[in-house]
Amino acid sequence: MSNPAISIIGTGFVGLCTGVGFASKGYQVTTSTHDPEKAALINSGVPPFYEPGLEKLLQKTVRDGRLKCVVDQEEAVLSTDLTFVAVGTPSLPHGGIDLKYVERAAHEIGEALGRKDSYHLVIMKSTVVPETTEKVLKPTLERESQKQCGIRFGLCMNPEFLREGSALHDTFYPDRVIIGEVDKESGETLERFYRDFYAEKMPPAIRTNLATAELIKYANNSFLATKISFINEIANICNKIPEADVKTVAEGIGLDRRINKRFLNAGLGYGGSCLPKDVDALVSHSKKCLRYEPQLLSAVVGVNSNQIDRAIQLARKTVGDLKGKRIAILGLAFKPETDDMREAVSIRIIKKLLSEGSEVVAYDPVAVSNARSLFKEAIQYADSAIECLKGADCCILTTEWEEFKKLKPKDFVQNMNNPALVDGRRIYNHEEFRKEMGFAAIGLGD
Ligand code: UGA
Repeated sequence: MSNPAISIIGTGFVGLCTGVGFASKGYQVTTSTHDPEKAALINSGVPPFYEPGLEKLLQKTVRDGRLKCVVDQEEAVLSTDLTFVAVGTPSLPHGGIDLKYVERAAHEIGEALGRKDSYHLVIMKSTVVPETTEKVLKPTLERESQKQCGIRFGLCMNPEFLREGSALHDTFYPDRVIIGEVDKESGETLERFYRDFYAEKMPPAIRTNLATAELIKYANNSFLATKISFINEIANICNKIPEADVKTVAEGIGLDRRINKRFLNAGLGYGGSCLPKDVDALVSHSKKCLRYEPQLLSAVVGVNSNQIDRAIQLARKTVGDLKGKRIAILGLAFKPETDDMREAVSIRIIKKLLSEGSEVVAYDPVAVSNARSLFKEAIQYADSAIECLKGADCCILTTEWEEFKKLKPKDFVQNMNNPALVDGRRIYNHEEFRKEMGFAAIGLGD
């Protein structure tokens, strides 16, 4: 199969970034969605969400005729050789994952496979708990196609590690490629494709079985979450020791190459559509399906959710009772360089402040329109960081956007009613802020 045509079921963040990445290297890519409006947007070169660099590359690939979006999944599969499944696996109320989109995709791909004569490879990219590809995707594909997996079509589990905000970079320069395979031919077909796509930049590849590949994805995100909760625990210990500073502790341990300095930024904890969902799902799956009590991961979740209360306590420490106080929230997105607010810590902070009777005004360089559809008239929205600070009694910084790093103590003092800052991402030098301007600036972990 040289220069295979590719279909991608699902046009969310992973599906679209991956598709655009493949198309930009000359592959013929057909993405598919059930949403005609979304398909029309993509076909006109407009990404349905914000991701740095995506719009430009999408426009180029659409213009060059390398990428299109269809609403007919069968058409997508029948006209291609490889099909990546990149549909969402949202959280269920008790932490498990909802497989309805995976099941629907399996059903549609299976039907198309039944009508196809040539060999086809199906690749699971969605994050699913171990054994889902084997026990849900594979039997559905076999049933709907009336073909045996591993003989008439192949199946791989190929988790993704794209970070929002650097998704295109991660598509072109991943640390590794993980290939879980039902049989050797499936794994070899996918590895060959990646060797061609990455050429001399091919990262290390690990070939394994489906369940191990699925678990690698959960273990990866759970480890990252563990690092964050670990440093937040140390930050909370630092808070009790006047002289201790968590940033220097992180620097000190980060120089140990066995630990490394990444993901040791203490603060409000992790949010987003992946880390919270994946750790919760692994905890829930271990308890319910595997009858194993994951003590460490449960503690990781606990430490993370407590950080919000700690920030609120610090805000109270600087301005007293929060009722009736005007609180400025700098940052709404779950992290910089994205407009994504899914599971953003800002949401939990704002809800808490509203329940305390505070008046909330918020600013974010790109996420304000998402916040509007979430909070509507319940909060006020500012057009700039300075406007957000105007008249506020306390500021809680929740996202470490570059433009916030440029703010100086005088910006807080000159604009706020009562200059007080809870630096939830530890981007300022609090000593300097306190010394220079003499106002209450405090970070989690000071
Ligand atoms: C995460 C993983 O990093 C990706 O490898 C993975 O592919 C992706 O989930 C996924 O499963 O799809 P992402 O959700 O984009 O990527 O965000 P991260 O960069 O991991 O940040 C997650 C959260 O942790 C953010 O809220 C961030 O503010 C927080 N964080 C990160 C900290 O609180 N401290 C840190 O030191 C680092």
